[in-house]
Amino acid sequence: MTEKPTLKTEIILGKDLTKGYIEMMNSQRVKEYGENTKDFKKNEQGSTFFFLKEMDGVKAFGMLKPVTLCYDDKPYQIMGIANVIAIEKSKGFGSLLMEQITKYIEENNMVVVGNTYVDNFEFYKKCGYRFVPGLLPRFVYKKENGEEARTETQNYEMFIFDPQNMLKNVIEGTKSVVIKVPFW
Ligand SMILES: CC(C)(COP(=O)(O)OP(=O)(O)OC[C@H]1O[C@@H](n2cnc3c(N)ncnc32)[C@H](O)[C@@H]1OP(=O)(O)O)[C@@H](O)C(=O)NCCC(=O)NCCS
Repeated sequence: MTEKPTLKTEIILGKDLTKGYIEMMNSQRVKEYGENTKDFKKNEQGSTFFFLKEMDGVKAFGMLKPVTLCYDDKPYQIMGIANVIAIEKSKGFGSLLMEQITKYIEENNMVVVGNTYVDNFEFYKKCGYRFVPGLLPRFVYKKENGEEARTETQNYEMFIFDPQNMLKNVIEGTKSVVIKVPFW
């Protein structure tokens, strides 16, 4: 699908998000998940936000967060994809948004990693993303105080967009993948 002439994608850095955008995303997250666990103002200054807009407002949005994966003592710079929501479902807005995000990723030679619930597997596959079973349980969030945390893995899986296979060692390995920020 290509972007309709009436649809535009606005790309904004987290530090430049308006109060209106933050409030809109917060309330949409509460609608979707019953709560909002993200603090866009505090934690996402360096993230990149995508807003798919029509004349009457935002139809879908998503975010890419710079994250360093540490595997086998080597750092891998990736973008964590998160906060993907289509405000009106099943009208193609989600896939149009993903098309724009993927275009941005390709233009900037980025590698993307996401984590999603089983209900969304088909959607991301249709958007050209590859699922990597067994990757999520290997992820460990190492806090500043040395404490380790893992995330829910039942019915969740990680998916990637990595045309140049930059994460080959990480994916084919068996050791833990360490992140220094909470799961995005
Ligand atoms: C996931 C989400 C963004 C999809 O957006 P959407 O606008 O409803 O999806 P689209 O209309 O663009 O669908 C694109 C394709 O994916 C398919 N698809 C979308 N959601 C699907 C689902 N849950 N199961 C199976 N297929 C699905 C559609 O059938 C469509 O297929 P087609 O191209 O063959 O017709 C949307 O459902 C959403 O906001 N969900 C709640 C928030 C969420 O869980 N986000 C993911 C966070 S990781």
